[in-house]
Amino acid sequence: MSVVIVTGGFGVLGRVVAADLTKRGHKVAAVDVAPAPGEYGNALALGGVDLTDETAVKAAYATVAERLGSVDGLVNIAGGFIWGLVEGNGLAGWDKMFRMNLRTAATSSSAALPYLLRQGGAIVNIGAFGAIRPGAGMAPYAASKAGVHALTESLAEELRGKGVRVNAVLPTIIDTPTNRADMPDADTAGWVRPESAAKVIAFLLSSEAGAITGATIPLSLAG
Ligand SMILES: NC(=O)c1ccc[n+]([C@@H]2O[C@H](COP(=O)([O-])OP(=O)(O)OC[C@H]3O[C@@H](n4cnc5c(N)ncnc54)[C@H](OP(=O)(O)O)[C@@H]3O)[C@@H](O)[C@H]2O)c1
Repeated sequence: MSVVIVTGGFGVLGRVVAADLTKRGHKVAAVDVAPAPGEYGNALALGGVDLTDETAVKAAYATVAERLGSVDGLVNIAGGFIWGLVEGNGLAGWDKMFRMNLRTAATSSSAALPYLLRQGGAIVNIGAFGAIRPGAGMAPYAASKAGVHALTESLAEELRGKGVRVNAVLPTIIDTPTNRADMPDADTAGWVRPESAAKVIAFLLSSEAGAITGATIPLSLAG
């Protein structure tokens, strides 16, 4: 059993990942900017933590280590999406995406490292397949997620030989209520189920994936 922090833990993917890891016997701390829900399974739920705020994140992770005994794994799920053309738009969307997707992952990783380096561990980031060859209107989101891919690869090299692995999964479209509402006519058969993503994340956290670091792994249905 190990202790895993799941950021964005109150969102759609975060809840499924937290439940999956709990079922596998891990102690889970779900951290999110939203207020903690009244009921959150067996996991420790820390709400009101803005993951762009270094001081707040350090304090939250110290609480996790104190309450659960250590921090052995980190899943950086906090993030979001906006669509926006470059023409005629200001930089507000770019700043929002940078902070939400990249700054959260960097701040969270930096705050968790002192604990992860003690006895080894693993970080899994959530990138995006859409950042590999972005379509029109995807620039702010894709650029921020490309930053997450770069963070993953660079941090993996920084930590090589130090017992901490860093990988990322790159989902295409996740089957969420928001995506279903936004794309009512889409064929959802090819979308990635959160439960499928959670299994890959659990594997990357596990010692079974001990030979994998610095990988950015697309998640899509093979058909
Ligand atoms: N959904 C997809 O199709 C898809 C595809 C590829 C990649 N992804 C990525 O997968 C991840 C999860 O997606 P999802 O659909 O599960 O999203 P979600 O339901 O919106 O969950 C994301 C969670 O992160 C939280 N969050 C955002 N900014 C934060 C901050 N500064 N500090 C702390 N928490 C913060 C959100 O809180 P609030 O709701 O209060 O803002 C929310 O609870 C995201 O990184 C997303 O970019 C999603």
